[in-house]
Amino acid sequence: LSNEFYWEYEGLLLPSETHSSASVKFAQEFHFKDDDVIAVTYPKSGTAWMQEILPLVLNGGNLTPIQSTVNWDRVPWLEETRLEKVVDKMTSPRAMVSHFPYNLMPSSFHNSKAKVIYVMRNPKDILVSSFYFHQMAAFLEDPGTFDEFIDKFLEGRVLFGKWTDHVTSWKLAKTEDRILFLTYEEMVQDLPAAIRRMSDFLCQNLSEDAVQKIAEHCTFKSMKANPMSNFSLVPKQYMDNNKSPFLRKGIAGDWKNHFNSEQEARFTSVIQKELEAAGLSFPYN
Ligand code: PPS
Repeated sequence: LSNEFYWEYEGLLLPSETHSSASVKFAQEFHFKDDDVIAVTYPKSGTAWMQEILPLVLNGGNLTPIQSTVNWDRVPWLEETRLEKVVDKMTSPRAMVSHFPYNLMPSSFHNSKAKVIYVMRNPKDILVSSFYFHQMAAFLEDPGTFDEFIDKFLEGRVLFGKWTDHVTSWKLAKTEDRILFLTYEEMVQDLPAAIRRMSDFLCQNLSEDAVQKIAEHCTFKSMKANPMSNFSLVPKQYMDNNKSPFLRKGIAGDWKNHFNSEQEARFTSVIQKELEAAGLSFPYN
């Protein structure tokens, strides 16, 4: 499966530009603290959004992190090369993100009380978002036609493997009260309500003013206008926001503008079967 863009780690494709054998080793040896918080996502499910919201929920709504620090340093990825460079500057409670399935979480995570927020998104919208992302990110392989990309996605020949495996790994994980499941769709529909759920889960006791302030600064529009959050500081040779912006549409249901009915039926049937085999139901019909 590996090629000039990707290498294979534990059966998953990772982009060589941002992930190395040293960075995944660093992740495996990473020492989790009890007050760490990690937002886990399958790619294109709302990771950058969590990099915006989490620091503000953890600091009571002080905007300094989103005004002064680029998102990939503000809330770094557990498995990416960047973590090693910024980890010593992070102050507790630390916030991170990860695309790891549950089985790749390091042992110190299991031995800690660190909390997880798992954000799930309709895989049809993920596929559309990812299709455009592969066109704008020079370090990712050309996605081929939309129809070809559907096959790749369903077969797991994409970054971080099959969506169903990822979701299943976390849904069935024995993490008890250490995990909060959120959906991208509920965040789109009512961001203040999602922030309140995060605040309760993280025992932050945010005032309603703070919730509203955080929501206002974490809208798609606010993030698009914020150079620390809109990826405009990534050199053009890596990401060309003119081809397709990283913050592209920010809506639920854009798949309806891209899938024809045959593609939709094929996609849903495969995903549904795989989830059902794991004892889960597909919440996105
Ligand atoms: S990545 O590459 O895995 O880190 O991508 P990720 O950040 O997970 O997903 C990118 C999609 O999330 C959308 N996004 C938002 N939607 C609504 N509101 C806000 N504030 C927001 N921030 C990011 C982003 O636009 C990508 O989705 P699409 O559908 O392509 O617009």
